[in-house]
Amino acid sequence: MLKSIWTAVAVGVLLTGCSSGISDEALAGLSPAEAGKKVFDARCKRCHTINGEGGTRGPNLSKVGGRLEETAIRDFVKDPAAAKPGTRMPKVSLTEKQVDSVAAYLAGLK
Ligand code: HEC
Repeated sequence: MLKSIWTAVAVGVLLTGCSSGISDEALAGLSPAEAGKKVFDARCKRCHTINGEGGTRGPNLSKVGGRLEETAIRDFVKDPAAAKPGTRMPKVSLTEKQVDSVAAYLAGLK
């Protein structure tokens, strides 16, 4: 029992990487929307709720795709302060692929 918990923790750490929370390797072979969901869970969920799960520091993103175009989401996530001066959203350090996939995922939520 204890051993299986530690195995699960170790696998979790390996899958998500240590410094940035998730690695591009962990996203290989997934569709952009699937990869984007993983990025979201690792990097965005603590502040944003989707379908009743997540934090409340930022707005609920369950239907963000109905309000914002994919390109607008991508530009905002890439550099929030540049896209919207004075915004309270911090820049999250992500690779280009991670920004693209999280934007594709969010744009599909309508
Ligand atoms: C530390 C908390 C925090 C984290 C982490 C965070 N956000 Fe945000 N986010 C915010 C806040 C606060 C706002 C509201 C900003 C404003 O109104 O200017 C916001 C706004 C947004 C918006 C605009 C929503 C709208 O309705 O206009 C999007 C899209 C978004 N965040 C996506 C993301 C994504 C994708 C990630 C992960 C890569 C992420 N956020 C990580 C706090 C966070």
